[in-house]
Amino acid sequence: AVDISRLRSDTGYITFDEGYGNTGSCLSDITYIDGEAGILRYRGYPIEQLAEHSGFVETAYLVIHGELPKPRERMTFARLLSENAPIRQGMLRFIENFPRDAHPMAVLSASMNALGAYYPHLASNNHQNDLEHFDEAAAVAISKVRTIAAHTYRVNNGKPFNYPRPNFGYCENFLHLMFSEPYNEYISTAEVAQALNLFLLLHADHEQNCSTSTVKMVASAGANLFASVSAGVNALWGPLHGGANAAVIEMLQKIHNDGDDGTRFIAAAKDGKGDRLMGFGHRVYKNYDPRAKIIKASFYRALDSLNIKNDPLLDIAMKLEEVALHDDYFVSRKLYPNVDFYSGLIMRAIGIPVNMFTVMFAIGRMPGWIAQWREIAQNPKMKIARPRQIYTGPQIRDYVPMEKRA
Ligand code: ACO
Repeated sequence: AVDISRLRSDTGYITFDEGYGNTGSCLSDITYIDGEAGILRYRGYPIEQLAEHSGFVETAYLVIHGELPKPRERMTFARLLSENAPIRQGMLRFIENFPRDAHPMAVLSASMNALGAYYPHLASNNHQNDLEHFDEAAAVAISKVRTIAAHTYRVNNGKPFNYPRPNFGYCENFLHLMFSEPYNEYISTAEVAQALNLFLLLHADHEQNCSTSTVKMVASAGANLFASVSAGVNALWGPLHGGANAAVIEMLQKIHNDGDDGTRFIAAAKDGKGDRLMGFGHRVYKNYDPRAKIIKASFYRALDSLNIKNDPLLDIAMKLEEVALHDDYFVSRKLYPNVDFYSGLIMRAIGIPVNMFTVMFAIGRMPGWIAQWREIAQNPKMKIARPRQIYTGPQIRDYVPMEKRA
């Protein structure tokens, strides 16, 4: 048991809030969430309106700059992204020198950090300097994260680099970088590009989650944008954070391998004897996850356009969805399908391998991390983040020489 008298430090009382569930770590103008009501807004704009009228690139601008871009700003932003899509030869070799079976998140984190080495004028570790080059640094991060991710996939599969197409949109270019082959350029259907666009837009920010708080914490020490977002990638790699969409596919595969259609799995989950349904429930949204509603419609459109039929995993997924939406166990606990349920299914349908799912999440989250880094860098009163602890180890004791340690 913790001795309550020790919660007092030399500077006063310490608040003990493990996991920071009730601690506001910053003031932020970027994202508003009301989990009870199922509301998500970027810079005040409802996610539903952005999903209907905007796209990932415009929303990235909004998240980063605080306003929807005027036509000239939109053009400048698109030009910066296009100019920064390629990666230098040294960086290509850097990615190619990882083992063929390297996890794409390990490569992504190392590569995002390495951008600071390739672009030292954007990564001086002096916030005032770095802010002077902020627009370029943001474009480098947003555009190159996509090229790095796609090239990692190519290397893992023993395939050559595809050069980005300056005339392609952000998502079309990503699909080309991933899937084009010599003499066989990948041209995505509008529905698939749109599903990917929505997936990225819906992940653009989600206020002070684990990876974003990590970005802010690293930034608070004065670190540059690339070092900070690279730390965010590492936090996202943790299975409790960025891994749920992959867990959905693994669960469906397991149900299928067990010869079940989902009935036994659901019964065991309800009994508390089996695993939980991955992709259902949310810590913050106790109403329908607003992102799930949006992505669900786009998922079905993408499926139609890909003409995917007779997919046993999809049949199981639809069964789970159907049961969860009507069964009293799930309804009474407000366990609705969350964004990860559909995004895992979308990525699988597009042909993105499961070990790339968290990388896709990182591409989508890049604008949020950049905007949150800037909030720290621009704050003249910024303090280094330095939580305290409640020490529970031994009190003072004397050193024991080796010969006396039985
Ligand atoms: N399947 C079956 N039962 C569940 C599930 C689930 N997915 N989630 C919660 N429950 C049950 C619990 O067993 C508990 O039942 P009880 O009241 O009879 O004991 C009740 O619902 C409440 O569960 P808690 O764990 O208290 O709910 P909490 O809000 O803390 O958990 C969480 C949220 C962690 C997301 C949980 O729903 C879960 O584990 N879901 C599956 C994993 C998942 O999809 N995670 C991704 C979330 S989205 C994201 O991170 C981007």
